[in-house]
Amino acid sequence: MQSLALFLLTLLPTVSTKCFDPSPAFPVPPWQDQSKDHRLTPELSDITSALEELACDESYDTSSFSVEITSQTETLWSHHHTARKHNATRPGATQVDGQSQYRIASITKTFTTLGILYQHAAGNVSLDDPISDYIPELTDGEEKSSLPWKDITLRLLASQLSGIPREIAQADLLNELPDPTAVGLPPASLKGLPDCYEYNAFRPCNWTHLLPHLKSQQPLFAPGQESTYSNTNFELLGLVLERVSGLSYEQYMTEAIFEPLGMDSTTLKKPKSDEHAVLPIGQYFWDVDEGVHNPTGGIYSTSSDMSKYLRYILTHYNALASGVNWFMPASWSTGVNSFYGMPWETFRTDKILKQSNRPVTFVTKSGGVPDYFSRITLMPEYGFGLTIIIGGESSLLDKIQEAVTVPLIRAAEDSIWEDMDAIYTGTYNTPDLHVLNSTLTLAASPSSGLQLTSFISNGTDVFTTLLAKWAGLINPHSGQWRVQLVPTLLYKNETAQEGEIWRLLVVEEWTGKERIWDDFCITDVDPASYAGLPINEVVFWHGERVVELPAWRVKMKREEEDGERGRLVVQQP
Ligand SMILES: *[C@@H]1O[C@H](CO)[C@@H](O)[C@H](O)[C@H]1NC(C)=O
Ligand SMILES: *[C@@H]1O[C@H](CO)[C@@H](O)[C@H](O)[C@H]1NC(C)=O
Ligand SMILES: *[C@@H]1O[C@H](CO)[C@@H](O)[C@H](O)[C@H]1NC(C)=O
Ligand SMILES: *[C@@H]1O[C@H](CO)[C@@H](O)[C@H](O)[C@H]1NC(C)=O
Ligand SMILES: *[C@@H]1O[C@H](CO)[C@@H](O)[C@H](O)[C@H]1NC(C)=O
Ligand SMILES: *[C@@H]1O[C@H](CO)[C@@H](O)[C@H](O)[C@H]1NC(C)=O
Repeated sequence: MQSLALFLLTLLPTVSTKCFDPSPAFPVPPWQDQSKDHRLTPELSDITSALEELACDESYDTSSFSVEITSQTETLWSHHHTARKHNATRPGATQVDGQSQYRIASITKTFTTLGILYQHAAGNVSLDDPISDYIPELTDGEEKSSLPWKDITLRLLASQLSGIPREIAQADLLNELPDPTAVGLPPASLKGLPDCYEYNAFRPCNWTHLLPHLKSQQPLFAPGQESTYSNTNFELLGLVLERVSGLSYEQYMTEAIFEPLGMDSTTLKKPKSDEHAVLPIGQYFWDVDEGVHNPTGGIYSTSSDMSKYLRYILTHYNALASGVNWFMPASWSTGVNSFYGMPWETFRTDKILKQSNRPVTFVTKSGGVPDYFSRITLMPEYGFGLTIIIGGESSLLDKIQEAVTVPLIRAAEDSIWEDMDAIYTGTYNTPDLHVLNSTLTLAASPSSGLQLTSFISNGTDVFTTLLAKWAGLINPHSGQWRVQLVPTLLYKNETAQEGEIWRLLVVEEWTGKERIWDDFCITDVDPASYAGLPINEVVFWHGERVVELPAWRVKMKREEEDGERGRLVVQQP
C-alpha cells in the first residue's frame, strides 16, 4: 500500500490539467477545397455573406480587400471586394482578385526572419550572436553608442526584445502634425535628423543616413527585459542578410524565398504596371520606395501568393532550423492572452469554443502603412492559414478578422468531432476473452475530446483501480474527471506515417475557478512508466483498426459495426 501511495504521489503534480482542456485535442485535419470537401461549405458561405454585408457600409466606398483561407495543401476559400470608387485618372485594378497586388507592410518582418533562420540553419549566422558581430560599425569608431549592442543578439532583435527604439525616420510628430506648436509642443527643426524618408518627402534612407542616428539613441529597456515593437530591429536584420549573403536584401528575398515558393507576384520593387495594383483613392504609399526600411515593411504581394507562403510555414514551422519551433512565443506581451514570437504576434483564447475551454492559438503578423492594412494568421492546431489584405480603411481589419476566424474555428470543430467519431470511437477487444479478457471503449465529443470511457485489462477494471486513484489525487473531493487521449503528432513509423502515438491524460472536469492559483497549469504528459514503458502511451494502427497500449503489452482490434470481434494475433509480453 505504501509503495502504491508513493507511486501515485509522483503523479500528483503531473496530471493536473484542471484549468483548461488539453490542446491540441486532435491531429491536424486534412482539409480539401470546397469543390471536393463540403464539410465547411455552409459556414464559408455565411462568412462570404458577412463580408459582403460589411463592405456595403459607405465608409468603405474606397476600400478593396482580399481574404483567403488555405489548408496545409490548398486554398480552401477566398473572397475579394473591389472599392466602389476609384481615382478616375489612376484607378489601378478595377476588379480585385487573388492576383491583385497590395503592400503587405510589416508582414515583411516574417520574411526577414525566415531569411535569418535559413542563415542560422546553414551555419552562416547564429541567432545568439550579437548584432555587432555582423555590423561592427555599431560599436566601432570614435562615437560611442548609447545602445548595448554587444548584448543584443539576432534572436532578441527578431523577437522584439532588443529594447532599442522603434523608429529611425518615421513617426516623428514634427512631420505628422501640420503645426506642432498648436498642440503645445515647442518649436523644433530638422537639424541633425536623417535627411530622408519622412524627414524629406519619402526619399529612401540608406545606412549612411541611419547609422549615426542609431548610435545616438537611448535604450527603452535592457536587452531581453521587455518586449516592445521596433521596426529598427528588422532593418538591422535585413543588413545582416545582405552582409552574409553578399546579395542585396531584394535579391536575397527573391532567390531564397519568393522564387522557391512560386510567389511570382511578390516583389520589393514597385510593380512596373498598375494593372494589378490596388490603389485606394488618395493613396500615395504605393509609390514609396522604402529603402533601408524594406526588411521591416517593403513587400508587395497578393493573397494568392500569401497562401503559398502560409502553406509552406504551416508545414515547416518546426523544421526550419534545428532547435527552433518558429511558432513558439519568446515573451509575453500585455495581458495574459498575447505573446511575441519571432516576430509573431500570438493570441491564445479559451473563449472561442462553445463547448470546451480548450485554448485556441492564433499565430499572427499584422502590417500597416498609409492606405494598406494586412494580417496573416496561422492556426496550427487546425492546419489553417488566413490572409487579409486591405487597400483602404484600417477599421476593416479587426472586423474581418473576427468575422472569419470565429465561425471558421467553430465550423471546423463540428466537422472534426464528426470525423473523430468515425475514425476512432467504438469498442476495441482482444481476440479471445478467454485467453486475455481486455477491452476498451473510446468516445469523442467537442467538450471532452477523444475520451477513454472504459478499460478492462485482463479482467480488471482499470478505471476503479489505477485511474481512480490517479484522479483522486488531483482533487479527492470532486469525483469529476475523465480520461482523455491527446495526440503527440508522432508516429511509430514516421516514414509510413503509421502507428499514430497518443497519450492518456486524467483531466479534471471544469468546475469554475475558486482560487487564484486554479489557473496555474504546467503540462506533463509523461507521468509514469511500467517496466520501462510509458504507462499512458496509446498507438493507433489505422490500417488494421488496431489500438496498442505498449506498457500493457496489449493490442486490441476495433469491433465491427455488427459487433463481431476482430481477429488478431496478440503480441506476447
Ligand atoms: C551561407 O554562406 C555561404 C557563403 O557566403 C553561401 O554560399 C551560402 O549560400 C549561404 N547559405 C545560405 C542558406 O544562404
Ligand atoms: C546614401 O544616400 C546618400 C544621399 O543620397 C549618399 O550620399 C550615400 O552615398 C548613400 N550611401 C549608401 C551606402 O548608399
Ligand atoms: C488621382 O491620381 C492622380 C494621378 O496619379 C493624382 O495626381 C491625384 O492626386 C489623384 N487624386 C486622388 C483624389 O487621389
Ligand atoms: C492475467 O491475469 C492472470 C491472473 O491474474 C495472470 O496470471 C496473467 O499473467 C495475466 N496475463 C496477462 C497477459 O496480463
Ligand atoms: C471479463 O472481465 C469483466 C470485468 O471483470 C467481466 O465482467 C467479464 O465477465 C469477463 N469476461 C470473461 C469472458 O472472462
Ligand atoms: C515503416 O514503413 C515502411 C513503409 O511501409 C516499411 O518499409 C518499413 O519497414 C517500416 N519501418 C518499420 C521500422 O517498421
